[in-house]
Amino acid sequence: MRGLKDRRVIVTGGGSGIGAATCRRFGEEGAHVFILDINVDNAQRTADDIRASGSQADAFEVDIADRDAVSAAIKDIGPGGIDVLVNNVGWDRLVPFVESDTDLWKKVIDINLYGPLHLHHAVLPVMIAQGRGRVVNIASDAGRVGSTGEAVYSACKGGIIAFTKTMARELARSGVQLNAVCPGPTDTPLFASFAEGESGGRIKTALEKAIPMGRLARPDDFPGIICFLASDDAGFITGQTISVSGGLTMSG
Ligand SMILES: NC(=O)c1ccc[n+]([C@@H]2O[C@H](COP(=O)([O-])OP(=O)(O)OC[C@H]3O[C@@H](n4cnc5c(N)ncnc54)[C@H](O)[C@@H]3O)[C@@H](O)[C@H]2O)c1
Repeated sequence: MRGLKDRRVIVTGGGSGIGAATCRRFGEEGAHVFILDINVDNAQRTADDIRASGSQADAFEVDIADRDAVSAAIKDIGPGGIDVLVNNVGWDRLVPFVESDTDLWKKVIDINLYGPLHLHHAVLPVMIAQGRGRVVNIASDAGRVGSTGEAVYSACKGGIIAFTKTMARELARSGVQLNAVCPGPTDTPLFASFAEGESGGRIKTALEKAIPMGRLARPDDFPGIICFLASDDAGFITGQTISVSGGLTMSG
């Protein structure tokens, strides 16, 4: 992919799942990867893998729901420039909305909506000053078509899709491009936390039947589209929403 070598790339949640696979791919493309994760041991492991394969990587312990912690990390990284931001952190717990409580709503909104807002607010001024930058927001098909048991999470992810489009419009002439990628059900630790127990096993089997390509996504299904959207090959693409779901959702 063109134009990723020596780029300075921030990936949130790079310690696990889709984020870890994405960090490794940016490393293979020769980028310098900055990994922000609440689990710094896992982030460090991803950074070690990238360094072992010959690229640069740094891990930061950051809770993205904590605005001050995000600002402090970006203060460290920003002076060298920031070319790419991948907002990948996400979290949820499956529960019918009428049985959910406000503590859960708050946690879900803090991580899935405020977290990315904190990152955008800290990083976009750096990109605007540079006159260029790319943001890839990892939303979810839950934000496009809904997902039973994930009402508040779906509201956040739908919000991120709308936010991406709005910022893409606001910044279209400043050289900063933003796009959203929507995973469908993906075999990661987050999905495994949903699929625990008997009903979880049934959810996985039902999804495998419903997905036209016959399987859950895997973390390695995502780095290609994410790196493409961050590359010079995507120089005229902004404000778009792309599902990676084996055909489970189709729109256009
Ligand atoms: N797995 C799926 O089925 C699925 C489906 C649709 C969308 N998504 C989205 O894809 C993205 C990646 O999900 P995944 O399945 O790879 O998740 P994952 O749980 O495997 O990894 C998430 C990473 O984020 C980190 N993290 C969690 N909360 C954090 C916080 N407050 N601050 C900093 N780091 C934090 C975790 O430590 C972990 O390393 C998320 O945005 C998720 O909502 C996943």
